Amino acid sequence: MSAATPAPTPVLGPDGRLPEGETKRVAVEAMFDRVAPGYDRMNRIISLGMDKRWRRRTVAALGLAPASRVLDLACGTGDFSRDLATAGHRPVGVDFSAGMLAAAPIAAPLVRADAAALPNADGSFDALVCGFALRNFVDLDVVFRECARSLRPGGRFAALDATVPERVLLRAGNAVWFRGAVPVLGRLFARDPDAYRYLPASTAYLPPAPVLAEQLTDAGFTGVHTTTMMGGSVLLLTGTRA
Ligand SMILES: C[S@@+](CC[C@H](N)C(=O)[O-])C[C@H]1O[C@@H](n2cnc3c(N)ncnc32)[C@H](O)[C@@H]1O
Repeated sequence: MSAATPAPTPVLGPDGRLPEGETKRVAVEAMFDRVAPGYDRMNRIISLGMDKRWRRRTVAALGLAPASRVLDLACGTGDFSRDLATAGHRPVGVDFSAGMLAAAPIAAPLVRADAAALPNADGSFDALVCGFALRNFVDLDVVFRECARSLRPGGRFAALDATVPERVLLRAGNAVWFRGAVPVLGRLFARDPDAYRYLPASTAYLPPAPVLAEQLTDAGFTGVHTTTMMGGSVLLLTGTRA
């Protein structure tokens, strides 16, 4: 780091403490702006190349009619939007990180906005996907209500996120990879160990699956369902706008 470039403010506080409220919003946005150029490569490494399969499964779970209008919430570099467009749908990506949007090599429309205050009219979308962002939001209830407002009645919702397996052995394996190897890989490949220590630590923000399901139901969804993949390391939350 040269004298002209101040060191970025770490997203994790002293003792690895996670930020909350406005401090979290500002720190998370700055962190994604920072990691954006190398984000796709790190994503493939961390997920051992399996994230593409998880996204395909998520899109399949939506059961969309052809040419559906889909909100890709917290789209990052647009992986979901790309898959949706390839499948003949009409995605719109929304993210608050200008850096992530600038690194999105996609033709779909992209909008810079906070998930807690979406700029679209009520009922604008047939479906909504959200990949690996739930734990980054400051207030999930607020975001889920925005998701409900943005979907037409009967509109489909699907969110993927990283979680911690319940089984002891799988939990141990998950810890070795995410808490042990990933920060080292982050240091080597992204030169940002802080961001890649935040990633595994941030799973602590996510409530248990039954609580998440209740929150989504309370926001105005029916048929809410949770399932896991990769030995319980990845959670898929689905529902239908009531
Ligand atoms: C781990 S990345 C996931 C990106 C993409 N969805 C994917 O699956 O690769 C999380 C994304 O959430 C975005 N994000 C976090 N909080 C947000 C908020 N409050 N509003 C909009 N985007 C947000 C970040 O900027 C980042 O691009």
